[in-house]
Amino acid sequence: MIEQRTLTAHQFGAAAAAYLASPAHARGTDLGRLAALAHGSQGLAALDLGCGAGHAAYALAEGGAQVTAYDLAPEMLAVVEAEATRRGLCNLRTRHGPAERLSFPDISFDLVVSRYSAHHWSDVPAALAEVARVLKPGGTLIVIDVVAPETPLFDTLLQTVEILRDPSHVRDYRVSEWTAMLRAAGFGSFQADSWTLPAEFASWVARMHTPALRAEAVRSVWDQAPAEARAHFQVRSDGSFLMDVAWMQGRKAPWGGVAGWVGLIASFAP
Ligand SMILES: C[S@@+](CC[C@H](N)C(=O)[O-])C[C@H]1O[C@@H](n2cnc3c(N)ncnc32)[C@H](O)[C@@H]1O
Repeated sequence: MIEQRTLTAHQFGAAAAAYLASPAHARGTDLGRLAALAHGSQGLAALDLGCGAGHAAYALAEGGAQVTAYDLAPEMLAVVEAEATRRGLCNLRTRHGPAERLSFPDISFDLVVSRYSAHHWSDVPAALAEVARVLKPGGTLIVIDVVAPETPLFDTLLQTVEILRDPSHVRDYRVSEWTAMLRAAGFGSFQADSWTLPAEFASWVARMHTPALRAEAVRSVWDQAPAEARAHFQVRSDGSFLMDVAWMQGRKAPWGGVAGWVGLIASFAP
């Protein structure tokens, strides 16, 4: 029996080249938004958590940030290094490890981004506590991820097809769950917006090497799903469907949270 993190590293290690080529990952207006955010900010220290084949990291680095691309799967990092060299990006380095335990000193980054990764993390609150630790006061966290509908039936169906397709899936959280987790980790001025992402069935299962039996089970789940759920996900006859993706952005308190305020007040004390 293998543990969740090992399973994740194994699943993605075997799929590294496919993620570099995947249009669903290589394209998206969110990548343009990330590049615009980094543009003209030479020296902005950015961390891409769960970088995969590096599409968010390239957007930030091409915008001018100093980027650290971080992932659990060494094969993904090898792909990122080769692609960064091919693109002539000298401002991008890679580091290996889990999001839940970061090997970076406190207050080392201005911006932390995570795109399409957090639904695989075994402990999101632990990862958010680590992000809060490594961000500078006033620093920004952007999580871009598939999110579950707030309707319980739709939520259950989404998690079901996700885990059948990829056994390393943990949970597509609802925006309301993200809001609570981000607030609990101390991120203020929270904002979110969302759009839909097509999951084209054939490439969606091929990318993760889903065995035929499990791919068939996904189709069976959709076939028997209630009409309102099929309508919500716009399920097509080949099993393709639409997922909701959200951009969730929070800011660490400018004075480093409660500890920062205590320190600031203490510094004025007679
Ligand atoms: C879908 S890929 C990410 C796509 C990429 N961010 C992009 O913009 O194209 C998900 C990545 O998250 C990584 N991952 C999953 N769980 C992780 C964890 N706990 N810590 C760090 N990385 C993790 C996987 O190894 C995988 O490379």
